[in-house]
Amino acid sequence: MAPTPNELPCQKTTLTDMRTSKVADVEVVLVTGGAGFVGSHTIIELLNVGYQVVVVDNCLTSKPPRKGETLPAVLRRVQDITGMNLDFHMVSLLDRQALRKVFLLYKVDVVIHFAALKAVGESVKRPLDYYHNNLTGTITLLQVMSEVGCKRLVFSSSSTVYGSAQYFPTDEEHGTGVGITNPYGRSKYVCEQIMKDLTVADKEWRVVLLRYFNPVGAHESGLIGDDPLGVPVNLMPYLAQCAVGRRDVVHVFGGDWDTPDGTCVRDYMHVVDLAKGHNAALAKVSDKKFTGAKAYNLGRGKGISVLEMISAFSKACGKEIPYKIVGRRRGDVRRTTCSGTLAEKELSWKSSRTVDDMCRDVWRWQSKNPNGYE
Ligand SMILES: NC(=O)c1ccc[n+]([C@@H]2O[C@H](COP(=O)([O-])OP(=O)(O)OC[C@H]3O[C@@H](n4cnc5c(N)ncnc54)[C@H](O)[C@@H]3O)[C@@H](O)[C@H]2O)c1
Repeated sequence: MAPTPNELPCQKTTLTDMRTSKVADVEVVLVTGGAGFVGSHTIIELLNVGYQVVVVDNCLTSKPPRKGETLPAVLRRVQDITGMNLDFHMVSLLDRQALRKVFLLYKVDVVIHFAALKAVGESVKRPLDYYHNNLTGTITLLQVMSEVGCKRLVFSSSSTVYGSAQYFPTDEEHGTGVGITNPYGRSKYVCEQIMKDLTVADKEWRVVLLRYFNPVGAHESGLIGDDPLGVPVNLMPYLAQCAVGRRDVVHVFGGDWDTPDGTCVRDYMHVVDLAKGHNAALAKVSDKKFTGAKAYNLGRGKGISVLEMISAFSKACGKEIPYKIVGRRRGDVRRTTCSGTLAEKELSWKSSRTVDDMCRDVWRWQSKNPNGYE
């Protein structure tokens, strides 16, 4: 029998600033997948504005804590950057009992749900793993949140829900679910549908669906950045690893797309801009006038090609990055470009960093940490 919120043994909701030892009443944000790329950058922004942060991550695709340590290296560095503490639980969303225990330990006010498998190409090869992790994990999370009465959620969705988009820049009016080219995108689409259904069934839920375009870049400190396990499947970490000599040549998937230079066009945005978008989304789900589930695109509204990005990164790191055009990758689409008008109007959010900022910050991160968090 699930306990009601009033029966929960809540941990006192306090936040300790390591620099000042100041303790203040704050909202508790539970972040799933917080040891990953977007999650870790977002936590910095959350801590900076005074939220208490609890992270749930099983380190499926990120580096786990070293032996004898309680935090993964990335989150230790987040603490160093912000001077603030956070709590980490190495728990899978698929482990209902362990997840419930975390919710019973804190009075969680709101959840940001990043945890997912995200590699488009891999999802074509391993659809069951993707559906199991992304859908079962999300359903379990929503069930546990319902049990404890925590009904505010910000969800990491993706531009892949638009499939092969019919017009550019693509806005939220564009249909979703039709023509999605891979299981990863379909898992995001189904998660969105589940959340919409939930808010229809129970009016207490308030959900913001953030449809990210292509986050790249790194924190300006150079202390944290994208450090995927194994061979990177995204362009920027691959480029960065080439630049430090860990990879020989960048594979460009397809040179015969219907785009100006034949390579795919993506709407790259700086991860710190994206991270700040989550604070805007938290404000939205905290607004008592807001109900239901609403989707917002987060992107820059400017498409650039893979070859243009290789050239911009080569300039930033001062080395020519060798590349080779190979066959198309299953699951890819020709082009994505975001209309961010709605987020600007209703969330007061707009990305400000340029492609050169993205490349400079990725290079700072990778050159300071050639082996990532190792
Ligand atoms: N990075 C992108 O290009 C991009 C674009 C659009 C949407 N998104 C979405 O944003 C979110 C974050 O992406 P990211 O780039 O930070 O990915 P990431 O792989 O760096 O981080 C995801 C984190 O989730 C954790 N995780 C996965 N399954 C889990 C589970 N069952 N239980 C607990 N933890 C689990 C992983 O260990 C990892 O630390 C994802 O949902 C992704 O689909 C990312």
